Amino acid sequence: MTTHKVSIAGVEVVVGARDLLKEDFDECMDENFFNEDYDTAASTGFFIWEGCWILIDLCKGEFGKTLKGKRVLELGSGTGLAGLCAAVCGAHVLMTDVATVVDGMLIPNTAMNANLKAPEEKQEIPDINASVPTTNLPWPCSTKIGSGTATSLTLNWRIPVKDQLTETINPFDADIILAAECIWLKELIDPFVETVFDLLQGKNKPRAIICFRDRAIDTSQVFVHMAEVIAQFENKNCKILKLSEKAVRKEDAKKSASNPNSPVVVYEVTLRL
Ligand SMILES: C[S@@+](CC[C@H](N)C(=O)[O-])C[C@H]1O[C@@H](n2cnc3c(N)ncnc32)[C@H](O)[C@@H]1O
Repeated sequence: MTTHKVSIAGVEVVVGARDLLKEDFDECMDENFFNEDYDTAASTGFFIWEGCWILIDLCKGEFGKTLKGKRVLELGSGTGLAGLCAAVCGAHVLMTDVATVVDGMLIPNTAMNANLKAPEEKQEIPDINASVPTTNLPWPCSTKIGSGTATSLTLNWRIPVKDQLTETINPFDADIILAAECIWLKELIDPFVETVFDLLQGKNKPRAIICFRDRAIDTSQVFVHMAEVIAQFENKNCKILKLSEKAVRKEDAKKSASNPNSPVVVYEVTLRL
């Protein structure tokens, strides 16, 4: 396990993660191997991906300022680094993933950053146990992180959101949905697009911000091209807009040998009225 640190809004966020380039996979058996929800897709949740760094850069800029007081739901949060950075910016963040990743990454990494104080902060800690979930209040059972809050929840894209509701947290209360590098395998298109589409119908009519890195070559049978994802969203009567395109960090380029120069593209998805 490697420790990663990010300085944002005068606060240092720290998470533990596996390191794709350093880990000796031959020497160790993955302890999650026999968990029911654990597949190749879920095993990626223990690493930090290129899109995560781009989402963090977005949080450090103008986008970060728009997050203050917003209820953010992050899909496929992995280590939680981006979600925790959004919380430091003042958002109330619900980080979601499959149960193995929630237990192995999101809960310990949130605890590691609990009660981080934003330097200039003087206001009262919000009531995190408010019984009626309303927008601009933290999600129930949240931890104070910088000037916002964060908590985590199991949300598996292969199961309809309405069938995963708990008594305490309602994912349909989100104002903004975030997702970094959640869709790279063809087999994930349907479950991921369906999940985003469901959540977009939440009562606050959220928008989704999705960071995508194309790992497919023309003949790919396994990796997805963004064109396929765009078509799928459009079939569902969603509007998908390219917001920006960013080069990955130099040290990350080698993580996708077949496509080292592929940038991370940021899209906004909303429901067509
Ligand atoms: C490539 S990782 C990206 C992680 C993180 N967002 C980042 O950029 O570092 C993909 C994430 O999607 C999650 N994921 C894969 N399949 C999933 C599913 N069926 N339901 C929910 N999350 C899933 C993985 O566990 C992992 O955290």
